[in-house]
Amino acid sequence: MQKGIIIYGAGGHAKTVISLLRLLDWNIIGIIDDGVDKGKVVSGISVLGGAEILPELRTQGIENVVNAVGGIGNYLIRWRIFERLQQLNFRFPTLIHPSAFVEDTVTLADGIQVLAQSYISSESTIGFGTLINAGVIISHDGNIGKCVNLSPGALLAGEVTVEDFAQIGMGATINLEVKVGTRARIGNSAVVKKDVPADGRVYAGTVWPVVSGKVRPKDSEPYYRKIA
Ligand SMILES: CC(C)(COP(=O)(O)OP(=O)(O)OC[C@H]1O[C@@H](n2cnc3c(N)ncnc32)[C@H](O)[C@@H]1OP(=O)(O)O)[C@@H](O)C(=O)NCCC(=O)NCCS
Repeated sequence: MQKGIIIYGAGGHAKTVISLLRLLDWNIIGIIDDGVDKGKVVSGISVLGGAEILPELRTQGIENVVNAVGGIGNYLIRWRIFERLQQLNFRFPTLIHPSAFVEDTVTLADGIQVLAQSYISSESTIGFGTLINAGVIISHDGNIGKCVNLSPGALLAGEVTVEDFAQIGMGATINLEVKVGTRARIGNSAVVKKDVPADGRVYAGTVWPVVSGKVRPKDSEPYYRKIA
């Protein structure tokens, strides 16, 4: 068995993290959560207390932690937890689900979670604390910043850049060489064909950029060709 580790956050994502830690044979010490009663059990693991007990745990020699707060829709929730834990000199092991495939030329920072059946292709770089949810594809030369959230099924073409804190929705598609700016939010199933500025929003189910009045790629071509 690996070393001891604590989990920060007792919400829904904690259940996924607990399963992953068990698969990877970590010794799960317990959960820290400020808004949940001590003693509550999540997937067989007890809540030990709130953030006030972190210094004591650190003194006892527990140094590994995983941030199980997804912070969907507000990256600051997740990032502030990382900052608090960094101040106490915790370590953040990167966790890769056994069914994910990460090419050997990929560079991963600490604190990353790569969930089931994701694929990270050649020479991609992933920053600290980024959450790569289930079934995500990051194609070759991806450049993903810190504390990015890639939701289930997001598809990134080659040489895509996603800057720090951006949130990419479920099933979103990001075209070749496109850059998604810092803190941008890409809604579920959006199609992103051009760069998105920092703090930009692409709504769920839409195509970016929105081209007014354009209904087909070339007026001379039928958009849908019936095969005789
Ligand atoms: C990525 C994400 C965080 C942000 O996407 P988003 O589209 O900006 O956020 P939401 O879907 O919550 O929509 C936010 C707002 O935009 C509106 N909106 C989104 N898409 C829209 C559309 N196509 N047309 C009109 N309004 C739209 C919503 O109604 C909502 O309005 P409000 O702010 O007035 O309430 C979100 O898509 C998401 O939660 N993704 C997946 C979460 C996940 O990872 N789950 C798995 C693990 S739990």
